Amino acid sequence: MARRNKGTRAARAPEVDFLVIGGGVAGLQAAIELSRHGSVLVLTKGHPLESSSIYAQGGVAVALSEEDDVAIHFADTLKAGHGLCRRESVRALVSEGPERIQELIAWGARFDKVGGKFAFAREAAHSRSRILRARGDATGNEMVRVLMAHARRQKRIQWLGHHFTVDLVVVGGVCRGAVVLDEVEGTRTVLQALAVLLATGGAGQAYARTTNPPNATGDGMAMALRAGAVLEDMELVQFHPTSLYLPTSPPFLLSEAMRGEGGQLRNIKGELFMHRYHPDAALAPRDIAARAIWSEMAATRSRHVFLDVTHLGEAFIKRRFPTIYSTCLRYDIDITEEWIPVCPSAHYMMGGVWTDTTGSTSLPGLLAAGEVACSGVHGANRLASNSLLEGLVFGARSARAAVAFAGRNTGPAGPLPTAGELDGGPLCALDDADKLRSSLRRLMWGKVGLVRTGDSLTSALAQLSRWERTAARPFGARVDLEVKNMVQVARCIAEAALWRTHSVGAHYRADYLDRKRPERSQHSRAKRAGMLTGADQARVWQPASEYRGRSR
Ligand code: FAD
Ligand code: SIN
Repeated sequence: MARRNKGTRAARAPEVDFLVIGGGVAGLQAAIELSRHGSVLVLTKGHPLESSSIYAQGGVAVALSEEDDVAIHFADTLKAGHGLCRRESVRALVSEGPERIQELIAWGARFDKVGGKFAFAREAAHSRSRILRARGDATGNEMVRVLMAHARRQKRIQWLGHHFTVDLVVVGGVCRGAVVLDEVEGTRTVLQALAVLLATGGAGQAYARTTNPPNATGDGMAMALRAGAVLEDMELVQFHPTSLYLPTSPPFLLSEAMRGEGGQLRNIKGELFMHRYHPDAALAPRDIAARAIWSEMAATRSRHVFLDVTHLGEAFIKRRFPTIYSTCLRYDIDITEEWIPVCPSAHYMMGGVWTDTTGSTSLPGLLAAGEVACSGVHGANRLASNSLLEGLVFGARSARAAVAFAGRNTGPAGPLPTAGELDGGPLCALDDADKLRSSLRRLMWGKVGLVRTGDSLTSALAQLSRWERTAARPFGARVDLEVKNMVQVARCIAEAALWRTHSVGAHYRADYLDRKRPERSQHSRAKRAGMLTGADQARVWQPASEYRGRSR
């Protein structure tokens, strides 16, 4: 069904030096750093404040307490990552983390204190109490508040909310800008910049159950793939053990910090079960806790287990978890008196657009930071509360790399093609985008979720390939463009999951339970086979060692 192209505009000379796509923690930190060196335009789809960052609850991990040290944070992160972290990236994360947090505090962030000292909480797989939090369980909200206020004070930063980035523009093998859809006017424009920084967050919406907000549709990963950048470890999806399970509610997150404060997991018979799965019981690593819950649900033929915090006391619960308390109350659950029905949900993408330690991708002119990127800090299982820190550290790092790239590329880029020229045909609409979106989410949850097998993945891939053919057209509306991106990202996840024939961290193959196979340190990588458009979405999967010789 062809739809008239509502309007395209010719590319203009760069109004800005740097384009930042995304206004969560990573995008805001990057924009602030970039504004010291040139003009910056921050694009967000929908409302500028809507992001995963603003919903972050538990806190931000940082080695700042007296009992802690960056070397211990380093070791904990590597251990959680099951051999798939890149050590130099983790070193950058943990060693620059304290400076970034001190900077945030200087800009006005108020982290919770006890007796005049910062209150450091414990979360799963941390050997020290090192999680800083704000207003109990509103850490992300506080960080975004401060970053946004500081960014707004920088005169060289401009903002465009409700502007959906459709695709990256690559000329001569260099990323030169982006095609952007004005969601209100329906017009499409090509924006040009000296460097483009992707900070578009994750892809949790590819799953029927997710803690992520509705805008986490993997756009950045899909557009980077289409532009020719390399994606890494897409099969590594983290499932959070505890999200609210009610037929009438979205899977609202129940922070791991609740178990850090002594919350217990019970099956539907009321029995404590976590000690049967891990010596740390309720504070077992996230992947183990999620699968343990899955097993208990299967054994008891139930759709959920319970999180019990009733013994922590009403006053403590209300003070420590005010957002969670009031949200559950809205669904008629008083968590001070009742056990909370919980079930795992897709939570975080460890994989994403491959970057080096500076935040540079394999595509010159394109940088990436935050959840959209695979910077190597999380490996096969992200340590809780490391992602807000990653957004700060790698937001700043990728900004510095963007400045360096721009400095090396000062020559005239020439005019870019118009959006109409780049579309490659008249704009279309999907017949029923909502139906396809929902079917995709259910397929991924059922066949590419917490427990995978070769059969489930092969059958999912057959369906995803059919949908990908339907969705491989130029669309004019955000709703259709998001579904297209979700299908492409979902296919990457399923392909990589089929490729990885062993279980490691969050990736669990019920047909390959051996967790010590020799190839476990290999990364999966995806790249389009050519720079073709339309239905051609062939990807090249190969071990990192073979790939290295050919990339870039
Ligand atoms: P986001 O914050 O998701 O921002 C993405 C931005 O990109 C948005 O502004 C969006 O509008 C924009 N965007 C996306 N696509 C487009 C497009 N096509 N065009 C234009 N703009 C686009 N991590 C922790 O470390 N600690 C926690 O306590 C914690 N709690 C969490 C709780 C919840 C409920 C969730 C969902 C996640 C939590 N995480 C936590 C994970 C963490 O919040 C995220 O990984 C992190 O905030 C991601 O930040 P980001 O800047 O990369 O992306
Ligand atoms: C949580 O509060 O449990 C989420 C923390 C995280 O995802 O890092």
